[in-house]
Amino acid sequence: MKKKWWKESVVYQIYPLSFKDSNGDGIGDLQGIISKLDYLKDLGIDVIWICPIYQSPNHDNGYDISDYRAIMKQFGTMEDFDELLAQAHERGLKIIMDLVINHTSDEHPWFIESRSSLDNPKRDYYIWRKGKNGGPPNNWESYFSGSVWEYDETTEEYYLHLYTKNQPDLNWENENVIRDVEEMVRWWLDKGVDGFRMDAIAHIVKAENLPDAPNPNNLPYVRAYSLFSNLEKVHTLLRDLNDKVLYKYDIMTVGETSGLGPEQALNYIGNERHELNMVFQFEHMLLDSATGGTGKWELTPWNLLDLKNIMSKWQTVLHEKGWNANYLCNHDQPRSVSRFGNDGKYRKESAKMLATFLLTLEGTPYIYQGEEIGMTNPQFQSIHEYRDIETLNYYQQAVESGTPIDTIMEAIWKKSRDNSRTPMQWDDSHAAGFTTGTPWIKVNANYQEVNVQEALKDENSIYHYYRKLIDLRKKHEGLVYGEYKLLLPLDPDLYVYTRKYEEEEFLIIMNFFDRTPVFRLPEELSSLSAELLLSNYHVEKEDLHEITFRAYEARVYKLKSRE
Ligand code: GLC
Ligand code: CA
Repeated sequence: MKKKWWKESVVYQIYPLSFKDSNGDGIGDLQGIISKLDYLKDLGIDVIWICPIYQSPNHDNGYDISDYRAIMKQFGTMEDFDELLAQAHERGLKIIMDLVINHTSDEHPWFIESRSSLDNPKRDYYIWRKGKNGGPPNNWESYFSGSVWEYDETTEEYYLHLYTKNQPDLNWENENVIRDVEEMVRWWLDKGVDGFRMDAIAHIVKAENLPDAPNPNNLPYVRAYSLFSNLEKVHTLLRDLNDKVLYKYDIMTVGETSGLGPEQALNYIGNERHELNMVFQFEHMLLDSATGGTGKWELTPWNLLDLKNIMSKWQTVLHEKGWNANYLCNHDQPRSVSRFGNDGKYRKESAKMLATFLLTLEGTPYIYQGEEIGMTNPQFQSIHEYRDIETLNYYQQAVESGTPIDTIMEAIWKKSRDNSRTPMQWDDSHAAGFTTGTPWIKVNANYQEVNVQEALKDENSIYHYYRKLIDLRKKHEGLVYGEYKLLLPLDPDLYVYTRKYEEEEFLIIMNFFDRTPVFRLPEELSSLSAELLLSNYHVEKEDLHEITFRAYEARVYKLKSRE
């Protein structure tokens, strides 16, 4: 297997709005990030992925960009960015940017021109169509509720937006769009950034002629995934971008690609494809949705066998052919400890167990800010405390369609993107030390107990456990490159696998619940002895043959043949 720095790296994702405010306006900023670089360095991470910091009117927290070459005023200036990059590099940390090229803001000069007249040279930078039968050109539903089409009076046509109406989709059929995007990408690379997380990249190509999606249930709009996701031409465009720009730089790329399995993912990341290094897959993020992708708000309990199935499939199919991007949380998802662990009695144990999982899979681990201290979903009582456009749109639409408020709030507590967007909890002072002012979104009520200052002091904290895990991964190539093999596939409580690389072999055992299952060493490993490298509990005797696992207990062993 080819060794690469980005395979050996641990990535830390920053949501700049909520990371650290340096000037008291309640909004996180670049100077805030700079002030925490030493904290990140101490944690042991290698790469920082920063969510969009470009100029934006902020209808979707920076994912609506009005100038790709300027920094959002609230976040600082380009000088601040240059300083951040230099200071990060000085510490041996790399920075990857969020590249949002499926759409721009409706305040981007391209769109302002595009909408101004039918014959404007930029008209074709976006996707414009005439209406059909007095309504929108097709029946596709936007990710954030309602039609993907917005009527524009100036030219009496509709433009397409997969996300909010303030995020018109770029037209990738247009050569000038491609050229302008390439130039912009080159501009950032020449500045010295170390790669990109490519937002919504699976969607940049839409089905030819934009046909209606099948609509057996006669819904007002249909989530037409297959008509705008992972289409063949995306690969041509990504290969071109790579051939013309990316390959010249020693960078890493990770694409956001919903709606695919590992075989299809290899079309993006297969070693011979020359498109992307990694993709974020979504299959494990859909386990607690009743109807898969479209029904994010319809809750259902997830189960461990499904999680094992999905993760094992990705681990095995990609082995030696591609590379996984592993995550349990990000700025679009609820907090991992609230979702896959236990954010009450066993918050610490379960957060460490999930950390063990994240850091011992094959692939590059992505830690989301606050995950390293076990931050939880906030469960705000009133909808007025939520800020996210997707959440607010869902609330309104659900109220209109008669869903009981309790059901709606329950869904929001579990699934809202704001769950992971509350301010980073630095200490137990005002606003968790995030800001001296009023934070743009409320701080989680548990900040006096859950915060970085506490975590640094407590040797047994989640934070210190992350440090140990990261360190372990650095010391053992087998934890980076080793082949994954699932054991006890049908055990409903324990998730067990080995990682084998050359002479090294590791055994990872995790109890995913608060029950107390008994682990018995499988026959195939019985000739080996095991050395415990790390556990989230105090372990008295290391003998592996029969162990009753405690709630959310996790152990990492190194296996050796008995002398
Ligand atoms: C991605 C981002 C999300 C954003 C959307 C539109 O899914 O992660 O936060 O709203 O794209 O850019
Ligand atoms: Ca600020």
